[in-house]
Amino acid sequence: MGKIYLSVAKIEYKNSHPLLIKILNMIKHKRIGILTSGGDCAGLNPAIRAVVYRAVGTYNWEVFGISQATQGLMERPPKTIKLINEKIDYLLTAGGTILGTTNKGDPFAFIMPDGSARDRSAEIIEGYHLLKLDALIGIGGDGSLTIMRKVAQQGNLNFVGIPKTIDNDVNCTELSIGFDTAVKIATEALDRLHFTAASHSRVMILEVMGRDAGHIALNAGIAGGADVILIPEIPYKIDRICDYICKRQGLGKNYSLVIVAEAVRTETGEPVTINDSFGQSRFGGIGQYLADKISLCSGAETRVTVLGHIQRGGTPSPTDRLIASAFGVAAVDLIAEGKYGHMVAWQNRQVVSVPIADAIAKYREVDPNDTLVKTARSMGICLGD
Ligand code: F6P
Repeated sequence: MGKIYLSVAKIEYKNSHPLLIKILNMIKHKRIGILTSGGDCAGLNPAIRAVVYRAVGTYNWEVFGISQATQGLMERPPKTIKLINEKIDYLLTAGGTILGTTNKGDPFAFIMPDGSARDRSAEIIEGYHLLKLDALIGIGGDGSLTIMRKVAQQGNLNFVGIPKTIDNDVNCTELSIGFDTAVKIATEALDRLHFTAASHSRVMILEVMGRDAGHIALNAGIAGGADVILIPEIPYKIDRICDYICKRQGLGKNYSLVIVAEAVRTETGEPVTINDSFGQSRFGGIGQYLADKISLCSGAETRVTVLGHIQRGGTPSPTDRLIASAFGVAAVDLIAEGKYGHMVAWQNRQVVSVPIADAIAKYREVDPNDTLVKTARSMGICLGD
């Protein structure tokens, strides 16, 4: 095989027939890098596993896992682990990412130990070349894909994206890795809260993640039998929620389950956030805000559960394993085809590829006319409006 690669590498085939270019590109030996960037979620490891199976197993390429998102490429020597078929079987069921990740490493404004911000994008490009990579696969959400595309454009790097985020807000794809597991966990939480709500005649509020999009709340809310679903895309009135809960009480239903997405604002439109010790603001607290209002107007004892990072960790669901596997294989095939600047996506039960530019043009929020919104309304679930 070594001889074939050597001779193929020497052929000048740039002006040949496209099919020939494709075939030659497929059999030409490649060194590819893979990194995970942004918040972790379930399904990253199965995607890494699929990339290695396809790249090493089918094409006989070499795959280098890059540590801590783009930061591994800033280190000297670049921090990587060589990924081989024999050592990765266990990844199918493993949560998190064996490569490590960060959601605070913007290389264009990288925070240095002295607190200053520095543009370190050139170091990433240099790291790519030091590793002699032919292509790089980045698994990330819209923020990470935006950054990685910018670096790739600046350095003329061969880059392919795989969408991941529990928020499911990457444009052009119906599913991103991690979403299904997060919905499953939030649904299980509602299933459990149901019993305590009924036993104590309480209103139980579950606050879930999702950043600016309400996909987790909407999906888990329907699947988990919530009575009230509040998402950022649909403004609400406290009175509507209280009337609904009181009406249920009047019908002898002594409890109610409320699910609220973290980015839902106060009734008057202020974001509800908390500041961490680094002075960074993040969503949190809308559940308690609602609890205070609802208990006042309905008289019901009200409790809040903030699900937090439980939604991101743990064993990936079967659906996440499936799309991660399909995405991993398809991303490697994009490299084989030389189709760079693209992201793999899930549309109508097919893996397709879309320009990353389209995927990051906007984030995918819940459409108020979405089938699931209509389903919720048709079943009498209160959406607060
Ligand atoms: O984007 C994924 C996500 O889990 C959001 O749903 C959430 O708002 C955020 O990340 C939490 O980030 P961190 O892990 O930095 O607290």
